[in-house]
Amino acid sequence: MSFKGRDVVSIRDFTKSDIEKVLDITRLMEPLAFGGSRILDGKVLAALFFEPSTRTRMSFESAMHKLGGSCISISESRTSSIEKGESLADTIRTIENYCDIIVLRHPKDGSARLAAELSSIPVINGGSGAEEHPTQAILDLYTIKREIGKLDGLSIALLGDLRYGRTVHSLAYGLALYDTKLYFVSPDSLRIRREVFEEVSKRVEAHETNDIMDIMPKIDVLYVTRIQRERFPDPEEYEKVKSTHRIVPNHLRNAKKNMIIMHPLPRVDEISPDVDNTPHAKYFKQMWYGLVSRMAVLSLVLGAIK
Ligand code: NCD
Repeated sequence: MSFKGRDVVSIRDFTKSDIEKVLDITRLMEPLAFGGSRILDGKVLAALFFEPSTRTRMSFESAMHKLGGSCISISESRTSSIEKGESLADTIRTIENYCDIIVLRHPKDGSARLAAELSSIPVINGGSGAEEHPTQAILDLYTIKREIGKLDGLSIALLGDLRYGRTVHSLAYGLALYDTKLYFVSPDSLRIRREVFEEVSKRVEAHETNDIMDIMPKIDVLYVTRIQRERFPDPEEYEKVKSTHRIVPNHLRNAKKNMIIMHPLPRVDEISPDVDNTPHAKYFKQMWYGLVSRMAVLSLVLGAIK
């Protein structure tokens, strides 16, 4: 299916061949990220971020600039008419007049789907509540493919806040399109959402555990996530789990030599800084892959590349 004009709301809207296409185009974007291009000349991206963001927002904006386009934005509801009581629906109806594509981050599950249904231009979900973050999954898949050379035949552990972490939900759906074995590692109160576990385990072998050491020697990828403090209904619950999984160099002694550690970032304290200099650490490189994969998504959805 053509990408032109498509919304990117959930990774589940994409087939394996769609994802392969984005990963192939991402590879072509790497030299353009250095040299620049004019393929999105005249196109305007509107960034609507109603939650904090560093990487998602800046990488989308940078991707647009590198391809010759430009950006407008709202970053705080305080500075827009949302403060005056304007609904998300009316905000979308307004902004679509000023741009060619919208990237939305919003605290509510379902927000990106609603915006996409209302909007006449493509909407990219830059994170919808605890639900999904599909372009993070694309950059995560690209990171694995680029660093390990393949996506099939791998064992992958997803560690941390699997209940509220939207990146793991999207990534698990994406990985389940490949021949992978998935290990969900979390404290009991933050286990992977049932609907995600049930769907992925129909396609691939999936296990739940709370002991990372047990599976460390088997895995090719360790995907660590932050405990999503802002999504806990009860601060005491956060205090109970906040430091349950912290990766330190000692955890890595039985790891495969080529095992890679990823993290969508920001990191709080779930990976000790002395892991950063080990050959396993790929979470800083992952941000570069985020830029090029967003260049690919924008080029495809805006129809600059078929
Ligand atoms: C993530 C998010 O916003 O879901 N950040 C990101 O986009 N790289 C992860 C997080 O906030 O923990």
